[in-house]
Amino acid sequence: MGKDFVLKGNICYSKSAKELALVADGYLVCEEGLCTGVFQQLPQQYQHLPLEDCTGKMILPGLVDIHVHAPQYAFRCLGMDMELIEWLSHYAFPEEAKYKDLAYAEKAYGSFVEDLRQGPNTRAAVFATCHVPASLLLMDMLEASGLVTLVGKVNMDRNSHPQLQESGPEASARDTEAWVSLILTEKAYHNTAPILTPRFIPSCSDGLMVKLKEIQQKYGLPVQSHLSENKGEIAWVRELCPDAANYSAAYDYFGLFGGSDTPTIMAHCVWMEEEELALMAERQVFVAHCPQSNMNLASGIAPIRRFLDRGIPVGLGSDVAGGCHTSIFRAMSDAIQVSKLYWRLLDQNEAPLAIEEAFYLGTMGGGAFFGKVGSFLPSYEFDALVIDDSKLEAPYDLSLNERLARIIYDPDRCILERKFVRGRDVLHKAAL
Ligand code: GUN
Ligand code: FE
Repeated sequence: MGKDFVLKGNICYSKSAKELALVADGYLVCEEGLCTGVFQQLPQQYQHLPLEDCTGKMILPGLVDIHVHAPQYAFRCLGMDMELIEWLSHYAFPEEAKYKDLAYAEKAYGSFVEDLRQGPNTRAAVFATCHVPASLLLMDMLEASGLVTLVGKVNMDRNSHPQLQESGPEASARDTEAWVSLILTEKAYHNTAPILTPRFIPSCSDGLMVKLKEIQQKYGLPVQSHLSENKGEIAWVRELCPDAANYSAAYDYFGLFGGSDTPTIMAHCVWMEEEELALMAERQVFVAHCPQSNMNLASGIAPIRRFLDRGIPVGLGSDVAGGCHTSIFRAMSDAIQVSKLYWRLLDQNEAPLAIEEAFYLGTMGGGAFFGKVGSFLPSYEFDALVIDDSKLEAPYDLSLNERLARIIYDPDRCILERKFVRGRDVLHKAAL
């Protein structure tokens, strides 16, 4: 398959949070890695292009994970009996300390990257560890996978595991700058880019945050971190930053909270104050909603309806290993389910997420952090999945809406036949 081609099949994509487009037996045109459009009849000018006939299959945009920890993949599904702070010190930090050893990193990151390559996600914003060589190795592997990723060498110079913590603001900032400049000077990545990654306020001294803002400005980097996940964590931030009005203000004080020159993803946002929501909307800070992690670590339920109503951008995150599954299909069904509990148990004014909203969040919602990504609207980047869902059949004819719902709730019995990222098939490299 060359650069320009046509896929024929049952095409489903979001036009907005509320509007799902479903085109049975339609044509999806890819030119130069971008979507030209979706057509019921193939216009004359595209009839010369190679056509991949996927009649009967479902064609969806690639899924987007805007919050995942690559080094935690190795212990997914373990340690799910603790809350955040205890879990970090018993599981996450000791595991991440192992990535000082490149041989270990190669093995562990190899399984993570292969899982991502074979699964339905096409894009991800990824936390690595604080180790520069292992973070570069992860980026090399992700680049080779064909997926598009933002990867962060983590910053953490306080309150951590002695084997993991960086020795101070200077060392952490020096390593971070060395990492960024190496990428810019020596690595010719097409699909992999750095993202500044202060782990969270309890892990980063004030001196480090000042230096990270300088690096962010100098290199024009996006930012990812964690915000208001757990009540104990929030109380800790209050002690560490007594002058900050709230957790968001603790980031904002250092200029690391969104705005047009500092695109930012904040994971979780479970326990937010009203003023924080106003600031997030103003700065267009992305919420990475990680429902499975929030359940596993008993953190709470993020008020996604409130975010959407206020115009705050939201995408979905697996938060492996807070979450056990890398697939964003799972995050979609979890997001719907926790939103129902929120509505039933906590606030009957906050309507649960509809399935098309969850699908939007896991495609176009998170995709917006990467640009025009996560839809088949014209000029969106061509990230597409071709799915054989024939094992999900029923004794009656299912509508496309119903088939999409089944794929979202029961993806494991589907076969991912093709997976295109920017127009390239990353499952069948030989076919390129
Ligand atoms: N907050 C700070 N670090 C982490 C992490 O690794 N996982 C989660 N879920 N929350 C965090
Ligand atoms: Fe996380």
